[in-house]
Amino acid sequence: MPDARGASRQKRLSSRFVRDWLKPQLGWFALGTLFAALMATCAFGYSYIISLATDWLKDGDLRVMWLAPIVIVALVLVRAPAMYGQTQANNHGVQKAVVKLQEALFARLIGGDFARLQVKASGEYVSQFANDMVLIREAALRVATNLAKSTLTILAAVAYMLMTDWLLTVVLLVVYPIAFMPVIQLGNRVRKSSQRAQEQAGELTAVLNEAFQGARTVKAFGLEAYQNARASAGFVERARLYMKVLRAKAMVDPFLEVVGGLALAGLFAFAGWRALAGDITVGELVGIIAAIGIASPEVRALGTLNAVVNEGLAAATRIYAVLDEPQGVADKPGAKAIGRATGRVQFETVRFSYPGADPALKGLALEALPGQTVAVVGPSGAGKSTLFSLLMRLYEASDGAVRIDGHDVRDVSMASLRANLALVSQDAFLFDTTILENIALGRPGATEAQIRIAAEAAACDFIPALPGGWNAPVGEGGRNLSGGQRQRIALARALVSDAPVLLLDEATSALDSESEARIQQALAGLAGKRTVIVIAHRLATVRRADRIFVMDSGAVAEAGSHDDLMALGGAYARMVQHQLT
Ligand SMILES: Nc1ncnc2c1ncn2[C@@H]1O[C@H](COP(=O)(O)OP(=O)(O)O)[C@@H](O)[C@H]1O
Ligand SMILES: [Mg+2]
Repeated sequence: MPDARGASRQKRLSSRFVRDWLKPQLGWFALGTLFAALMATCAFGYSYIISLATDWLKDGDLRVMWLAPIVIVALVLVRAPAMYGQTQANNHGVQKAVVKLQEALFARLIGGDFARLQVKASGEYVSQFANDMVLIREAALRVATNLAKSTLTILAAVAYMLMTDWLLTVVLLVVYPIAFMPVIQLGNRVRKSSQRAQEQAGELTAVLNEAFQGARTVKAFGLEAYQNARASAGFVERARLYMKVLRAKAMVDPFLEVVGGLALAGLFAFAGWRALAGDITVGELVGIIAAIGIASPEVRALGTLNAVVNEGLAAATRIYAVLDEPQGVADKPGAKAIGRATGRVQFETVRFSYPGADPALKGLALEALPGQTVAVVGPSGAGKSTLFSLLMRLYEASDGAVRIDGHDVRDVSMASLRANLALVSQDAFLFDTTILENIALGRPGATEAQIRIAAEAAACDFIPALPGGWNAPVGEGGRNLSGGQRQRIALARALVSDAPVLLLDEATSALDSESEARIQQALAGLAGKRTVIVIAHRLATVRRADRIFVMDSGAVAEAGSHDDLMALGGAYARMVQHQLT
């Protein structure tokens, strides 16, 4: 029976969720429950005083005019603040739990495998923070509020009814739960459709993100209609899937309405008979009706609770899928931290394929000695950027070894490995903050003087002329700056880091020849002090390198100094010829 298995999986998941995230906030929920108990006691009191007052009225007892109002006002004065207290206590507990959950999810994503962040569109993760957290918050709040308040209030009402007429109560208790079975079925349907709806919400977020980020290309190619169609298809699908969830939810309330109506009808038939036969007084009958009136909304809340909880569980399933996924690239147990390396880098016949793709590196072998400047050239797609990814251990070689100072990068702690590397990536990514901060991120606690020296070396003299100067905001991804300016900031960030190995991935491709020449000079000044590995297309920028590796389809085709390679008259010499003419 798949349904039974699903139910037990769901049970395990909910108890795990409660243990991981709600139990640490137990104090708040205990406080909420205390208030709920007060509210339930008042509910009992209401039924009791209504029953007494009815009999007083019938008997012409004057207490109906003063004692009943006093008791009712007193009950209100207790119940109203308790209501507020319960809601607030639960709100506090749930908000704290959600913050902890968000922190854990984010830390796991940003700290986990790089490969995982690459396979999904970023919008899908963003959507998890937006949509799944809302579902979880709703579900947790409803559980915290309803489980305590509704259950206790129903118990109080049942207690009153048992005291007043046990036979009637037993009949009600048998009939009601049977009527509730379909409501639980509806809840399961909500969970299933909710799962798909949330996945699609993530895909939609990704489509929207892409459209806005690619606005320039959209406009340049007149792709508005294409983007409109893509977004519209997403909106329509979102509405369709969401309607499925809403339809299942919409059936719950009418269903409960029917159950409630039938219960009331049955009650009058049965209890009327008991009252007319003299087994209970009119006051007691009215008291029972009052008790049912108080308990009914709570029963209804418990009935819809299942649907809300199922949506929350669907969200929790998706979140645990991220939290539980084993880390592919992680520190070995007891991985040692290397200190400052001298900067020797070796690739020993390294093979590597991206997940589900053809091999990107096919026995790559190269070496950079400490203080050397080494260039890697070759056609795009040859595997040059991949080489950097493997050195940083964003991915792992499937065969062969990548070494820094003789240590296999898989044996050392990732933090200590990456502290030895400074990268200017091909996309020259900047964070949406000031120029100063973007450079300072290269080195924790960098002084202003160090930042200025790095910026100078990276030919960043455009900075003072910008509105805001060093504090000018670079915009999302650095879009307030030109491509060449972005590259120079990214280069300054790498230079301010004192790492012994500097990795430049087409880092000067967007620069004018004057800025590039200045940067070449600054890099020449690093000779002997740092190992520099330069990936470049413009061969003029690499001719002074100690050694040049020419890569082609995942392996080194030629290696040597500029003069060696020219003399060889192979691929490199042909590329140089090509660029000169
Ligand atoms: N994340 C990725 N997933 C799958 N294949 C990739 C990925 N990144 C790069 N590739 C493939 O790996 C090969 C080498 O890419 P890359 O190292 O970026 O080349 P280069 O930097 O020399 O232009 C290319 O064929 C490219 O299509
Ligand atoms: Mg590349």
